[in-house]
Amino acid sequence: MKQHTKQSFALITGASSGIGEEFAKLLSQKGYPLILTARREDRLKKLAKHLKTRTIIIEADLSSENDRNRLAEQIRRYDIEILINNAGFGECGAFYKTSLTKEMNMIEVNVKAVHFLTKKILPKMLHKNSGYILNVASSAGLFPAGPYMAAYYASKAYVTSLTRAIAHEVKSAGKEVYIGCLCPGPVNTEFNAVADVEFSLKGISPEFCARYAVQKMFQKKTVIIPTFLIKAAAFFGRLLPQEISISMTAHQQKRKLYR
Ligand SMILES: NC(=O)c1ccc[n+]([C@@H]2O[C@H](COP(=O)([O-])OP(=O)(O)OC[C@H]3O[C@@H](n4cnc5c(N)ncnc54)[C@H](OP(=O)(O)O)[C@@H]3O)[C@@H](O)[C@H]2O)c1
Repeated sequence: MKQHTKQSFALITGASSGIGEEFAKLLSQKGYPLILTARREDRLKKLAKHLKTRTIIIEADLSSENDRNRLAEQIRRYDIEILINNAGFGECGAFYKTSLTKEMNMIEVNVKAVHFLTKKILPKMLHKNSGYILNVASSAGLFPAGPYMAAYYASKAYVTSLTRAIAHEVKSAGKEVYIGCLCPGPVNTEFNAVADVEFSLKGISPEFCARYAVQKMFQKKTVIIPTFLIKAAAFFGRLLPQEISISMTAHQQKRKLYR
């Protein structure tokens, strides 16, 4: 079916690779003009050449408060229909050994940037009573804690908790606006190289992950989990005593580190 170009924008963070790049391709195919942001502007420019709709590129380091403020200022005049808070990264290892600098940056990107952009854009969506916010969390955000990837799990738990709370508030206010979180298990992207690990489970493709997420987002599902295995793990994980769940996660994470 031929898609007509839409007037309102989709803003995607972390669109220079992996799941974010696939979100960009998919939403462009659906006719959305795009605002894409990441640090690697060259990658965004290369991607834009293959997209079907108008694409605005804003280079920004989301770990920097200055860059986040500049981004907010640059997007202020655009009508944003979809916000996908996708940028993020992980760090693996025992907490006492991992890099403080890397983890502080992770909190800036995985937590503060998601909070900041949601805060900036949600009120406008509520005002016009339409719009979609999809926060890319992780299956890590569905479990009580993640030894050997402690800060990453904690950062994603923030995203799932914040998102579910806001979703409840928005629904209670009778608004049409959607906010939800995507909680995939392993996805084959550049994530592993950045986190310096190898997955212990087989990953899904970023194309499948983004396609599934967009479909469920338009169906307004609050917590989106793309695979049966992670759905089952999250479900049975809730039935277990939390200490056992944490030990099982620790076992899984250790396998990644010492393969
Ligand atoms: N891959 C997985 O297994 C998996 C599983 C669950 C959840 N996730 C989540 O999915 C999201 C996307 O990750 P991915 O798997 O697609 O990994 P990826 O290929 O490494 O992509 C990460 C994206 O985040 C951007 N980013 C990282 N740090 C940034 C910063 N300081 N400022 C601005 N942008 C930044 C990167 O852009 P630049 O480097 O160009 O800045 C890149 O576009 C993340 O939130 C991740 O936690 C991934």
